[in-house]
Amino acid sequence: MYSRYLAVDSHRMLHRVLSFPIDLASSAKEYSSIGVKLPPLEDLVGVIIAGMGGSFIGGLFLQDALYEKTEKALIPIRETLLPSYINSHYLLIAVSYSGNTEETIRVALEAYRRKIPIVAVASGGLLAKLAEAWKIPFVKVPSGLQPRAAFPYMGAALAAIVEALGLAPGLLENLRSAALSLERASSSVLAASDTLAKWLHDRYNAGDFPIVYSYRPYLSAGYRFKTQLNENAKLHAFHSEIPESNHNEIMGWEGPFRFSTVLVRAREEPAYIRYRIEFLKELFAEKGIKYTEVRAQGENRMEELLSLFYTFDVASVLLALLRGIDPAPTTTINNLKRYLEERINISLDIERITSQTGSRGIRQDGNQG
Ligand code: PA5
Repeated sequence: MYSRYLAVDSHRMLHRVLSFPIDLASSAKEYSSIGVKLPPLEDLVGVIIAGMGGSFIGGLFLQDALYEKTEKALIPIRETLLPSYINSHYLLIAVSYSGNTEETIRVALEAYRRKIPIVAVASGGLLAKLAEAWKIPFVKVPSGLQPRAAFPYMGAALAAIVEALGLAPGLLENLRSAALSLERASSSVLAASDTLAKWLHDRYNAGDFPIVYSYRPYLSAGYRFKTQLNENAKLHAFHSEIPESNHNEIMGWEGPFRFSTVLVRAREEPAYIRYRIEFLKELFAEKGIKYTEVRAQGENRMEELLSLFYTFDVASVLLALLRGIDPAPTTTINNLKRYLEERINISLDIERITSQTGSRGIRQDGNQG
């Protein structure tokens, strides 16, 4: 049914998202020999993973995967400012697929100014040039992809760094074996994607926009779906956290609304979550709010998270195709980036910080100055 829409898929995004398990399994293997020099774990109180959009999600995914399993903090941030408490007892992992995202560059600059150890993850760009000038560890991911479609590479690179630090022994192998299990289960996962895409298309035609509900340790999956619907399907979509939304957003169902909801369900669902979801379902039924449940597949948290990412990534691209929309371009995001580039000269900040700290600067064209 999608074949007639494939002509609009200019960058073969459907093929790209369908390759998710294979790409992840092979990148987890490849990054297992990552040779970056890292500070000793005992010197650190935590790790900050800074990135925006498609370069943020890997940090959130790892935070879910390891939520109550690490002895030190693992904190994903999507900010321009670095909090004041972050000092040289933290490691900063700066992730930007293009290497040119202003927010991430600013956080990296501030970390450099504070003499915080930094590892950069990018396909190139300014971040790669800064890593070279600053002589900091740099993990290169393959270029030529949409940033959000590079999750199998950025996620594996992050897992490799976190494992190499000694924060999560066996993490990469866990990731790899979960990706291989996902590949074996792909036909049932893809059936769920197809059903979900068609359901969302019907809801869209009825005038509803989606709210995706998820909870720890599956927050990243719900958030990923919201962002993939935004960028691939070019639709407003929202993510809501259980239980926080029980204390505020739930009131919105008393007023007028044009939303349908997607409920993420999984194995780790203690009674305090299950009853909150059951309450929502009763409320939705009473108010005539259309909802669907998406159940994670897999034997453990890593497998479940990956199955959800896969289901949602594929569903977002299928929904784009059902709408006759090209999933790859993100024209408005690019227009904003261009608008900002014309008005904000980040190279001046780079010069200022690097001259204060005695390092050679980098011009915005990437040449060392
Ligand atoms: O997926 C996308 O295209 C965006 O969400 C980008 O990831 C976001 O704009 C940040 O850019 P980058 O990933 O290059 O740092």
